[in-house]
Amino acid sequence: MAKSRKGIVLAGGSGTRLHPCTSSISKQLLPVFDKPMIYYPLSVLMLGGMREILVISTPRDLPRFKELLGDGSAFGVEFTFAEQANPEGLPQAFTIGEEFLAGSPSCLVLGDNLFYGARLSESVKSAAAAQGGTLFAYHVSDVRAYGVIEMDDAGQVLSLEEKPPHPRSGHAVPGIYFFDERAPKFAAGLKPSKRGETEILELARCYLDEGSLRAEKFGRGTAWLDTGTAESLLDAASFVHAIQSRQGLMIACLEEIAFHQGWLSKDQLAARANSLGKSFYGQYLRRIAE
Ligand code: TTP
Repeated sequence: MAKSRKGIVLAGGSGTRLHPCTSSISKQLLPVFDKPMIYYPLSVLMLGGMREILVISTPRDLPRFKELLGDGSAFGVEFTFAEQANPEGLPQAFTIGEEFLAGSPSCLVLGDNLFYGARLSESVKSAAAAQGGTLFAYHVSDVRAYGVIEMDDAGQVLSLEEKPPHPRSGHAVPGIYFFDERAPKFAAGLKPSKRGETEILELARCYLDEGSLRAEKFGRGTAWLDTGTAESLLDAASFVHAIQSRQGLMIACLEEIAFHQGWLSKDQLAARANSLGKSFYGQYLRRIAE
């Protein structure tokens, strides 16, 4: 039987664009409105059905992530933790994660990327079920600052370009990547680029070159927000606040997702709600449990 796909959240980095806020704490522990940033990428992995999740962060910050997330039982999942000593590129997630993956396919999501919208779970589930490599494609107003992806109507990837002055498409590659069990091997063979890091598009190129790289579009109804600067962080918090207060439903409430997936019982949910005291988040869980 094929091994089930495992999740990785890369939540290290130096967060220099958010200094001084991130001079002493990881960006991914900062709040986006009412919950820590890392909850958002975790929610995407959980919606995709992944229950075994590796959290990678810096030696300085990893103890705080362990304190926040525990072994995962509060969320119906299993967390493993690993250090990235230096931020030497996104593909390092796969070499660090090789032992954890133990021959399973994986999904890497960046700890500071927020995804939300209609059909998100379906898109992630379908990518999780695919072979080879799968990227997403997202239309942005000025794609030149991003990794750019060109694909055909059947979803086959035609080209990948890093911050091109004359892009071949208007679609950027968001920070969520699906690869088969060979990702650690491919990642180990990559050379650092001019900026001294290995590049995730170069890893994807290993799949492109053999014709096994596909892409799915996140449509207009999907939000992809980055939270790397003070302004984008505020925008993301405002977005979450606006949707949540209008609908009375939470974005990225991990216990709620686990409950709907059948990974937490009503009693477990109620116990978790009680442990969160009077916070809005705790009150919300109590409401779901009732
Ligand atoms: P970046 O935004 O490229 O880098 P950063 O978070 O260190 O921020 P800054 O540019 O302000 O210095 O990283 C994107 C995400 O990937 C972010 O969640 C951090 C994470 N990351 C790592 O954990 N390890 C790495 O080696 C790299 C390059 C990024």
